[in-house]
Amino acid sequence: MTPQKNVVEPLVSAIKSSAQKNAASFHFPGHNRGNAAPASMTGLIGRTAFVHDLTVLHELGNLFCPYGPILEAQVEAAKLFGSSHTWFLVGGTTCGIQAAIMSTCSPGQVLILPRNSHISAISALVLSGAVPKYIIPHFLDHWDVAAAITPSQVSKAIQELEMEGKKAAAVFITSPTYHGLCSDLTTISELCHSHKIPLIVDEAHGAHFGFHSKLPKSALHQGADLIVQSTHKVLCSLTQSSMLHMSGNIVDKDKVSRCLRTLQTTSPSFLLLASLDAARAQISENPDSVFNRAIALADEAKRVLKQIPGISVLESSSFPASPAVDPLRLTVGFWNLGLSGSEADEILYKDYEVICELIGNRSITYVLNLGTCREHVHRLVLGIKRLAATHGSISKPEKKMVNNVHAPFDDITMSMIPRDAFFASKRKVAIRESIGEVAGELICPYPPGVPVLIPGEVVTEKIVDYLLHVTSKGAEVNGASDSSLSSILVCGKL
Ligand SMILES: Cc1ncc(COP(=O)(O)O)c(C=O)c1O
Repeated sequence: MTPQKNVVEPLVSAIKSSAQKNAASFHFPGHNRGNAAPASMTGLIGRTAFVHDLTVLHELGNLFCPYGPILEAQVEAAKLFGSSHTWFLVGGTTCGIQAAIMSTCSPGQVLILPRNSHISAISALVLSGAVPKYIIPHFLDHWDVAAAITPSQVSKAIQELEMEGKKAAAVFITSPTYHGLCSDLTTISELCHSHKIPLIVDEAHGAHFGFHSKLPKSALHQGADLIVQSTHKVLCSLTQSSMLHMSGNIVDKDKVSRCLRTLQTTSPSFLLLASLDAARAQISENPDSVFNRAIALADEAKRVLKQIPGISVLESSSFPASPAVDPLRLTVGFWNLGLSGSEADEILYKDYEVICELIGNRSITYVLNLGTCREHVHRLVLGIKRLAATHGSISKPEKKMVNNVHAPFDDITMSMIPRDAFFASKRKVAIRESIGEVAGELICPYPPGVPVLIPGEVVTEKIVDYLLHVTSKGAEVNGASDSSLSSILVCGKL
């Protein structure tokens, strides 16, 4: 890619000129171009943010029948990322994943997906009525981290369906994973296309891919059909703003647009949309070198950390099935010090004010990005050095070794599809009494953030033991009707 001269920002420019007008404003939002903005909020973010918080105006365009600046901004994004069409999203990658699955899978059709997919893919099963065919990921035991899905796992799932006389309506793959592990999407997309099956990629963590020789190739450049990226996670747009890209012609573009209209607010924030335009322009200015500094800092940090006794650094050699690993994800293992991820995090947070992205059972994941500075990387490295010096000398690793605790995926029986279980009547039972019942809600402890029970699956003793074990170790169960997990919702009337 060559640097683009005269990078344009159609939506940012249109919002700027619209806000500069002396308009007699009789439209939403109610703060009236900042005139009635609450003082506590202007104290936080300034009045300027309100002045530019505009709505669907003729000069800005409309997200749901794009014309003018919104259309131009989406076209610029499509050019940079290499899609045939790009949709800007204000409901995060969550709504992009839901739209991608709803537009490819009708009720009763089969979706092949990893069992540890993000919760948005599970809610898409409820919305679409699709029947899941799960791929169970391999786990790398001493990291307790799920590996990326391989082409042979996808091929096996397609073949198993064929043996039952069925065909998948779509394949859904998460690549990279939260830990930055990538799948071989080139082979997976060829495999899917040879069966005329569209490939959807959850690239929430990979919007930066392809913009440096050391970064993995993007899903778009490996033949995927629908790709969803959290621009806000790894590039620099505002939280909640994401992009959905399309390539090829297997997927019905109008159907995707219809699904997005169904799922998203009718009052999209133009600040969020403009931030997508700006984040794209920021990369367009220097697509080949914009990540130089961040990658150099990540390389340096890994080089030093690897030399510290008792500290492990996740590298591609740990996951031979992954053709690439995101160099900007830094996952550090503490098990040789006898520390769990949360024990190490507590020390690094309290003593060094280092805030991580993800806490695992045996590791912590840090994200480096365009805003990462050398001083912060030094602080992280220093904190880990001191932590290793203290804990390496006072504890015998074997004594405090943390057990592998990934979910018992070999124990899954789906008694109802997620949609039917979601809408079925429910009752609350004590956790031990739920054994043998059909789960009525999604139970996903953090860490490790993998759904252990999906609505419609039979609760087993092994699953209950696992849930009680991880919660006793401090895992939180967000979103369950009883976050303490003394009870859960199961399907069926009293
Ligand atoms: C793998 C994965 N997919 C999808 C999402 C949803 O992304 P968003 O927060 O942009 O809705 C997340 C969020 O953490 C994620 O980790």
